[in-house]
Amino acid sequence: MDVETELNIISRDAGCKVMTAQLLVEKKKLANPPLELHYLGDRVLRQPAKRISKIDDDIRLLARQMLQTMYSEDGIGLAAPQVGVHKQLIVVDCEPDKPTTPPLVLINPVINKVSREVCVIQEGCLSIPKVFLDVVRPEVIEVSYKDEQGRPQRITAKGLLARVIQHEIDHLNGVMFVDRVDNKLAMNQELTKNGFSVAAVKPIQ
Ligand code: CO
Repeated sequence: MDVETELNIISRDAGCKVMTAQLLVEKKKLANPPLELHYLGDRVLRQPAKRISKIDDDIRLLARQMLQTMYSEDGIGLAAPQVGVHKQLIVVDCEPDKPTTPPLVLINPVINKVSREVCVIQEGCLSIPKVFLDVVRPEVIEVSYKDEQGRPQRITAKGLLARVIQHEIDHLNGVMFVDRVDNKLAMNQELTKNGFSVAAVKPIQ
């Protein structure tokens, strides 16, 4: 292969990378994450998010900054309302320690189906630091959404991924995971111990 051909191949490869570079986010902690989190008790977290009509570079930048913030704070999911943005955008990465596993960006996500089977998993939330409590939710879900390129996607998720997606979609509806905790005694103890007001919880009937 002559040098010129080789260079052409290299530049074509580079071109490919540029196409997806928008969301090539390094999984590392930044000293100054780009976005600020809001915490339980902040009204911002209780407002419903709006559908995103145009998936453009602004939305991709938001997704990228949300991922950087999520990795910096040791999270595996983050919803736009948690950074004060009322848009239907969530980011998820159940394998933050694996550098090459791509994160998921879900725009306007809709849960189409849930399994009858439920399971108990201990949840936490970047907006309620240090509080971890058991929550019951469906084990398997089918969710439709658009990705960061605007392509329609549909996935069936189970286990931790299903759990994180349900938790994050709740945020888009102004729902916090503590609203779904059955053990009120444990919840009151955990919240109080970590400086949160129990009055900020809005139990789901
Ligand atoms: Co959360």
